[in-house]
Amino acid sequence: MTAKREASQQKGQDPVAAKEQLGGMLSVGIDLGTSRSAISSSNGEQFVVDSFVGWPADLVARKVLQRDLLMGREAIENRTMLDLHRPLERGLLKEGPERDVEAARELLRHLLSLVDATKNGKSSQVRAVVGVPAAALRTNKQYLRAALKGVVDSLMIVSGPFAVAYGLNALLHTMIIDIGAGTTDFVVMKGRYPTEDDQRSLTIAGDHIDAHLQKQVQTKYHEANFTIYMVREWKEKHSFVGDATDKVVVTVPMAGVPTQIDITEEMRAACESIVPPIVETMLDLLPHVEPEFQERVRKSIILAGGGGLIRNLGPTLEEALERVGGGRIKVIDAPVFCGSDGGLALAKDAQEGDWDRLVN
Ligand SMILES: Nc1ncnc2c1ncn2[C@@H]1O[C@H](COP(=O)(O)OP(=O)(O)OP(=O)(O)O)[C@@H](O)[C@H]1O
Ligand SMILES: [Mg+2]
Repeated sequence: MTAKREASQQKGQDPVAAKEQLGGMLSVGIDLGTSRSAISSSNGEQFVVDSFVGWPADLVARKVLQRDLLMGREAIENRTMLDLHRPLERGLLKEGPERDVEAARELLRHLLSLVDATKNGKSSQVRAVVGVPAAALRTNKQYLRAALKGVVDSLMIVSGPFAVAYGLNALLHTMIIDIGAGTTDFVVMKGRYPTEDDQRSLTIAGDHIDAHLQKQVQTKYHEANFTIYMVREWKEKHSFVGDATDKVVVTVPMAGVPTQIDITEEMRAACESIVPPIVETMLDLLPHVEPEFQERVRKSIILAGGGGLIRNLGPTLEEALERVGGGRIKVIDAPVFCGSDGGLALAKDAQEGDWDRLVN
């Protein structure tokens, strides 16, 4: 599969975008995620790729693959032949091995090549706002800068949930809960750049559910043979908390024979494992809001990220809010480009002095 075909969606070009491109300037918003990375461009294009980068493991692999570098789903599909890297595990850029920083840089280059920063042979100046997991922004600033510099002309690195808030124009008296793969990031928006006090980050998110589910299913069905990639697919199709509407039945090989197994209870337990820490953090952030605005924040909580799609999670969190006076949770039902669209909106609004600085 080619990179272009893997990318999922494109929009039509708007007149402002066309003018911007004529001027040789391209603005992009990039959501650099643990499991998926997305780009939205001022030329109207949007693409998403799985955040995997792989180099052929040896001479044989290079001969089979006929390539020096593979990205996204293609890298996952050919993983047995690759030295495979996931640059942002647990929401952090792995700083040790050089290859991980290189992997982050290659991933960004790849995203930029998809929106074709050098369209029609004319090279554009690229201004990029990159949203990263809050933990990576806090602890990997310099590495991120190093990975991104030179790839674009102007750069602004922001926390992912802040980019989501900006894109939704949810800037005042709102809370964003962004449940990704590596981390669940919380931000309370008070009409200005969020400070450290306004944000929280948990390393409990989609990957945690996958690991939990894998362990439970393996314990119940010793003979079943499956990978973490299969577990992730099961979850993305059947995730739920609370009452099950249907049985969750999947097919796995058992001693080489495809066999149907019921994993309803395991799915519920794995998905529900993230609820208590999310509730605790959500309730813990509320008293930090000025008293007269607390109700407004409780009534505009936004659930973003792929993990927000777990069936019945919104109502479950609303139930927990009953204890503190009630509230409302809005689930973003198409979260893939939420962060990158927010980054693009920021890039369009940014003034000269805003560029190449790191915002909390
Ligand atoms: N329908 C679904 N139900 C449950 N989980 C889902 C669903 N769809 C996607 N996910 C999970 O959401 C996570 C990916 O979400 P997202 O793309 O927001 O994360 P990310 O931005 O890559 O990660 P992070 O923000 O931690 O860096 C993965 O764990 C994925 O399996
Ligand atoms: Mg994310």
